[in-house]
Amino acid sequence: MADSAAVTILNTGESYLCPPDVALLDAGLAAGLHIPHSCRGGACGTCKARVVEGTVDHGWVMSFAITDEEKAEGYCLTCQSKPTSARVALRMVNDMVPRAAAPTVVPSEFEATVLAAHRVTPTVMRVVLAVPAGMRFAFNAGQNLEFVVPGLVQPRPYSIVEAPGADGTPPVGQLSFYVTRHDRGHASGWLHDNLRTGDAIQVRGPYGEFHLPAGDGPLFGLAGGTGLSPVLSLMADALAAGFAGPARLMVSVRDRREIFAFDALSALARAYPNFGARFTLTREASVPAPWLSGRITDLLARDRPDLSGARVLIAGAPAFVDAVRSAAITCAAAPASIAVDSFVSRNPDAGR
Ligand code: FES
Repeated sequence: MADSAAVTILNTGESYLCPPDVALLDAGLAAGLHIPHSCRGGACGTCKARVVEGTVDHGWVMSFAITDEEKAEGYCLTCQSKPTSARVALRMVNDMVPRAAAPTVVPSEFEATVLAAHRVTPTVMRVVLAVPAGMRFAFNAGQNLEFVVPGLVQPRPYSIVEAPGADGTPPVGQLSFYVTRHDRGHASGWLHDNLRTGDAIQVRGPYGEFHLPAGDGPLFGLAGGTGLSPVLSLMADALAAGFAGPARLMVSVRDRREIFAFDALSALARAYPNFGARFTLTREASVPAPWLSGRITDLLARDRPDLSGARVLIAGAPAFVDAVRSAAITCAAAPASIAVDSFVSRNPDAGR
């Protein structure tokens, strides 16, 4: 099949064309559809759909994201699957809103200039990119950009730290990121070792659907390490939009050397008196003020904050997100009022 497939999403009735060598999700996002997705690496299952008409090539997926039984029943992961028939009709498993009901944020690929790339802790690097002058790049708070790293088949997503401006574009045309170096991480190792101010780097996006839960309740952010980025983006966006209720953020890092972004958090707290942020150190027994000591799960179990009515944002490594989500529920957080974003592993070729 050389021609593009005509793809229809039955949930909304929207259609788009998908070339045979492009994933169903990517073509749909490029067409402006709001197809549910998260990792884009065949590992989380967020983009799962039932193939109601036509056929697909499943590509590389993790068995815990979609089982062989599910594939036999006609399900696929749209982030990995490519069309193999002229027509494909899909029914997404997760809810989705039609294109017209949400602001238009369409991913693209472009070359960004590195404005800064420097280590801010022993393991975390801050990267600032400039969007090309004259290019209109819009994103939603909580989204990520994928960095194309030499030698890796799949690019690696990193969350944008800022909230978009009122017009949906980056403030002063710049986007910043925090990149944790992982022991066996090809992508993070390459970025730490090679990225320099003045370089050009190929990026794709924005992607991701981490967003504020519905409602107007207090905001409670719980971040593990550089999981801070998407939580901070969403909280800053809510504050800029006029949210005046309590907005509390807790960030977990190993020790004082790993504290980062404290300047940005302090600036936000000064601009918005209803916002406050605390760092908790998990590997230091004796901790002076203003730092806290212990894991976030232990602090929630000890202090038992009343999270009924709160909107809870959790981001970090998968084990952190799972444990903190459970702890938040024991503090009366409603599951529907919890939004999570975790660093899910991707295709082994992709690295971290
Ligand atoms: S977005 Fe497709 S499996 Fe995660």
